[in-house]
Amino acid sequence: MTEAFDVQKTLHDTFETVFGNAADVRYYFAPGRVNLIGEHTDYNGGHVFPCALTVGTYGAARLREDKQIRLYSVNRAMNGISFSSVEDLRPLTGEQSWTNYIRGVVWSMQNRNYEFDTGFEMVIYGDIPAGAGLSSSASLEVLTGYALTDLYHFPTSGPELAIIGQDAENNFCGLSCGIMDQFASAMGEEDHALFLDTATLQYESVPLNLKGAKILITNTNVKHSLVDSEYNERRRQCAQALADLQTVTDIRSLGELTCDRFDKLKALIPDETNRRRAKHAVYENARATEAVRALKEGDLAAFGKLMNASHVSLRDDFETSCREADILAEAAWEIPGVYGSRITGGGFGGCTVSIVRDEATEEFRTKLSERYQKETGKTCDFYEVRAGMGPHVLDGPA
Ligand code: GLA
Repeated sequence: MTEAFDVQKTLHDTFETVFGNAADVRYYFAPGRVNLIGEHTDYNGGHVFPCALTVGTYGAARLREDKQIRLYSVNRAMNGISFSSVEDLRPLTGEQSWTNYIRGVVWSMQNRNYEFDTGFEMVIYGDIPAGAGLSSSASLEVLTGYALTDLYHFPTSGPELAIIGQDAENNFCGLSCGIMDQFASAMGEEDHALFLDTATLQYESVPLNLKGAKILITNTNVKHSLVDSEYNERRRQCAQALADLQTVTDIRSLGELTCDRFDKLKALIPDETNRRRAKHAVYENARATEAVRALKEGDLAAFGKLMNASHVSLRDDFETSCREADILAEAAWEIPGVYGSRITGGGFGGCTVSIVRDEATEEFRTKLSERYQKETGKTCDFYEVRAGMGPHVLDGPA
C-alpha cells in the first residue's frame, strides 16, 4: 500500500511533465471496496454490507479554458495522453478504453443537466491490485464525479455520485453492475461498513468492532474469462425467476421475499438452475441482514458462520466461485481463530475476504500460501485492510 505523500508527489510531478505545469491543481482520492456479505443481491433489491478500503484511485485535476478533456494514467503511462472533448462523448475501444469510466461520468452528469462550459485535465493513479475484484473501476468513477463536483462547484450529493458512477458503467461502459461498488466507494466511512438496502438506497454505517480480529483479503491472482457474460447471465436468470414468481405474487424484487415465503413459492420456477440462483439471492439477503445484527451484538462467531454459508451458496447454488477461491476459503475454515471466509465481489476469481483473530494471522498466511501453492501451483497475496473513508480532497505534496 502506498503512502499518500508519495502518491501526491508522483501526481504533481507527472502533471507538470504531461501538462506543462501544475498550477491550481487539486488532489483527490476515492476508495475501492470489499464486500463482507450480501453478494449478488444488489441487482435483486436485497441488502449488501461492503466497506470502503484505504486503497483506491487518486487524481490530480484542474479546469481547462477550452472544451477539451485530457487524461493521463500513471498506471498506463505507455498509453500516453487521451484527448477528447466535453462536446463529443462516446465510448472508446482499445488503448483509450480505460478513459470510458471518466468520460462516462461526464456524460452521465451532462444527462443530469450539469453543465460543462469548459473541459478539464486529470492525472490518475490507482493502488488497487489489477483484476482483484476490489472495484478499481467504481473508485475511478466516484473519484471523477467527486473531483468534477469540486472543480465545477456542482451540488452533487454522495448517493448521487454512486448513481452517476453506476449509470456511467451500465450505459456508457456497457457493464450491467448493480449499485454496491459505487455506493460503498462514495459513502464509505472509516472503521465502518455500510449496510445498504439496494431497493431504497437507505443505508446505515455500522461500526466494524472486530475486537482483536482483522479483515484479511486474499487474492487468488486469477481472473477467469467470461466474467462479464457470466455476470449478465446470472442477472438474466434471477430476472427470469422473479418473472416466474410474479405470475402469482406482486413482489417487485427477490429481495422482498423471506426464506420461508420463497420455499413455499419456489416450485413456480420451472428451471432448476434459475431456482437455485433465486434461492441464493433470497437466502443471501437474509444472511446479510442477520450478519449485521450479529455484528451489532458483538457476535463475530455468528457473523463468520454466515460468511461461510455465503461462500457455500455462491459455490453451489449461484456458481460464481471458482476452484482457486474454494481452496482458499476451505483452507481458512480449518484454522482456529478464523471466524469466517468467503469469496467476495462478482466472482470467477478475484479475492476471498476473511475475519481472522490477530493471533491467527501468521498461521493463516502460512497455511493458505502452502495449500494454494500445492494445489494450484500459483501464489496468492494477502492484504490486511481497514475500512477507509469515502472520496475526499487531499493536500498537495509537501
Ligand atoms: C460486482 C458488481 C456489483 C455486485 C457484485 C456481486 O462487483 O459490480 O454490483 O453485483 O459483483 O455482489
